[in-house]
Amino acid sequence: MPYAIETLNLSKRFPLPRRYRELLLHPFSHPETVALDNISVTVNHGEIFGVLGPNGSGKTTLIKILSTLVLPTTGKAFINNIDVTADEKNIKKIIGYVVSDERSFFWRLTGRQNLRFFCSLNNISAPKTDKKIEELVSLMGLEKEIDQVFQNYSSGNKQKIAIARGLLTDPQILFLDEPTKSLDPVVAYKLRRFIKDALVAESGKTVLIATNNMQEAEEICDRVTIIQNGKIRRSGTIGEIQRIFKEKEQYILTLKTPIEQILSVTHRPDFKYKTCTINPSPFRNEVVLMTVEINAEKESISDLIELLVGMRIKIESCECERQPLSQLFVKCINE
Ligand SMILES: Nc1ncnc2c1ncn2[C@@H]1O[C@H](COP(=O)(O)OP(=O)(O)OP(=O)(O)O)[C@@H](O)[C@H]1O
Ligand SMILES: [Mg+2]
Repeated sequence: MPYAIETLNLSKRFPLPRRYRELLLHPFSHPETVALDNISVTVNHGEIFGVLGPNGSGKTTLIKILSTLVLPTTGKAFINNIDVTADEKNIKKIIGYVVSDERSFFWRLTGRQNLRFFCSLNNISAPKTDKKIEELVSLMGLEKEIDQVFQNYSSGNKQKIAIARGLLTDPQILFLDEPTKSLDPVVAYKLRRFIKDALVAESGKTVLIATNNMQEAEEICDRVTIIQNGKIRRSGTIGEIQRIFKEKEQYILTLKTPIEQILSVTHRPDFKYKTCTINPSPFRNEVVLMTVEINAEKESISDLIELLVGMRIKIESCECERQPLSQLFVKCINE
């Protein structure tokens, strides 16, 4: 089965505007901004794929190319194996594009009138239009605002209407450009659950989401790609990206042994592991929490566990502390 989305060495360069003086002095030079530089990614059907990157890294440009709004400079992009530059009409039937661009709404019309207009553009029948709008209004919690004029909406509510518009046609592949930007935490959470549970798990849709919200990416994305200056820095599941940076891992050991006995082991000159904290549990008597840093290149947690057991220390549990995606992102960008 072909990929839902595939790009092959996709690049986009935008010409930079030039002043008269520069045109006269250098008539043949063509300065450009590189928005995307050789991007090759694949997204499977039914997957939520996250595109992460600092401001200006090329996320929106990538989504615009995939949505047929911008032409690539070089390289190829396919949706369901259809070249986005060759068959715009068919691509538009499959995809939905959600962007927080308020300018594409009619400011003097109500939210409902706006949505009705976009339904008619998409040839959705009148009864279906009303049903669909009711469904989306209830999902987005827009019952009070839907019949007010768009220009009076708060930015969060404008964003909600933009999301509702992207979902009107029930698209098979959905592009979301920072969909939860300016939404309150409850609506943002509801929307993320809707994307993951209703759109992807139940209806089998494919979602490509550009976001700068790392918690959002951790919560819903199956795989992510981190781009910077238009280039891919890392791609994979969050677990895979964690493993790349994993020379040091922190483990939290829950020990059921008196703290003095534990300290007598960790203070031995031949105890080579770096203990960060050893404290009695604030919640449970006779339980000690020990945080240890393991250098994956030289040490292993199983050796430490074997050593502690050999020293008659009772281990109740051992948990690896996951590095949050936000930390991995910063590491990746500063590499
Ligand atoms: N129409 C355009 N003309 C000229 N340059 C552009 C145009 N669109 C984007 N760019 C440039 O391309 C680069 C990538 O922009 P893009 O909007 O894709 O980034 P982004 O990752 O979506 O950023 P943000 O997180 O701020 O939304 C930027 O340097 C931007 O200035
Ligand atoms: Mg953007």
